[in-house]
Amino acid sequence: MPACSRTPLEEEVLEAIRPTPLQLKLLGSLYRLLESKLSSCARLHGLDAVVEAEGSYAKGTLTRDKWELDVFLLVRGASREWIASQGERLLRECLEGLPVEARYAEHPYVTVRVMGMEADVVIAPLVSKPGEGGTGVERTPFHTRWVRRALRGNPCLADDIRLFKSFLKGIGAYGAEVRVGGFSGLLAEILVVYHGGFRRLIEAASRWRPGVYVDPLGIGDEELLRRRYPESPIIVPDPVDPGRNAAASVTRRKLASLVLAANAYLEAPCRLYYHPYSTLEPPPYRPDPRRILAVELRGDYSGLARDALWGRLSRMASWLSRGLSRAGFGILRWEVWTDESSRALIALELESPELPALELAEGPPAWEPARALRFTAKRAGESMPVAIDDEGRLKALRPRRHTTARSAAEHLLGSGQAPLPRGTASARVVEPGDPGLGEAVRLLAEATPRWPYCLAR
Ligand code: UTP
Ligand code: MN
Ligand code: MN
Repeated sequence: MPACSRTPLEEEVLEAIRPTPLQLKLLGSLYRLLESKLSSCARLHGLDAVVEAEGSYAKGTLTRDKWELDVFLLVRGASREWIASQGERLLRECLEGLPVEARYAEHPYVTVRVMGMEADVVIAPLVSKPGEGGTGVERTPFHTRWVRRALRGNPCLADDIRLFKSFLKGIGAYGAEVRVGGFSGLLAEILVVYHGGFRRLIEAASRWRPGVYVDPLGIGDEELLRRRYPESPIIVPDPVDPGRNAAASVTRRKLASLVLAANAYLEAPCRLYYHPYSTLEPPPYRPDPRRILAVELRGDYSGLARDALWGRLSRMASWLSRGLSRAGFGILRWEVWTDESSRALIALELESPELPALELAEGPPAWEPARALRFTAKRAGESMPVAIDDEGRLKALRPRRHTTARSAAEHLLGSGQAPLPRGTASARVVEPGDPGLGEAVRLLAEATPRWPYCLAR
């Protein structure tokens, strides 16, 4: 076996994140149970079906923190419509006796939770070419095969993938869900395979910029992909369907997180880049609660797809942030959280929760008489003087509309323009003594990256 090019730190991290034999054994027994239930049930329904393990368990890229399986029931001849209307009912019937959870989603799937393990059970058409079934998820078995084949040739890659996933998780960029807007497990695998290892990938990522096209193996059609994904800050052709961007979930913010962390890691490697080390110590920074503005939403969110709900919350936070910023408040960052059923929280960290009673207003130059006179008259009505600067431009101090962020936010919420998630019954600014404020502080503290402290050591 060739030596994999890794540092002692990376080997140490791997020791902590490789799955344990017991974990694999227990996941294996859950898989066999699901496999036998699903196949006999499909037979009973007269379906031509195959049950297959997918995801990191099937590919050998699982990490120790994941007690999770992805199981596919692949049905030959199943149309997208049939799956959409019958899929969930069939899965529930086939998994009877097990604790099954489902939630409205684009594509039917259920989650089985037993003894701390979790299995996502997905129903999809069985097809001979990716992209044939029209649902998107039927590509998954092809991904599994592609990754398995790629890993067979290079014994270092599976561990390098684990390292990269743990790195992404450590910097808060792991997961294709809208909640994260980051890198999926599959994308992590593709990137490590394309670059031939963790180290080379991190070196490449340290030089990425928005609009980066990552295709060292020359698989995709760059022009077509750029046209199809004009908003994507990173394009990575899907190896089994090269007209698709496997990195479509990545936001500009999470791309920036990876680029910054990759550069820092090359300069100052330490454990804090990696999950679980990234979370073992308490957050090193807690914002002062007086500078936090929190908005609490209540309602019924059970009928919304997860991605739709998180997407809407992000839009809402970004809308609030822009509104506050127009009102003169400096916004450092925002985070959102929801229990995905009845409550959501938007937390904004401000430069200051209060602003002076007067603000500086820049007026027109004196030689635009119509505007200049209007400006002067308005100030006179406020009993405020007008000044003229060295350029001949009018300036004045005027009373600020909102001197506290709370009042500005309340005004925004009351405007009727807020992009609230469907199902919201109430939206209010959290009061200083309210437990929601503590939650908001914790949310922001948890979201603070730990790895920058490696640079200070
Ligand atoms: P996962 O999100 O479980 O990723 O999806 P993973 O590669 O196994 O990585 P970890 O280790 O769990 O973090 C596995 C595959 O299952 C499909 C996805 O397309 C993905 O390729 N999948 C999963 C669905 O299609 N629908 C689902 O609801 C869940
Ligand atoms: Mn998985
Ligand atoms: Mn899964």
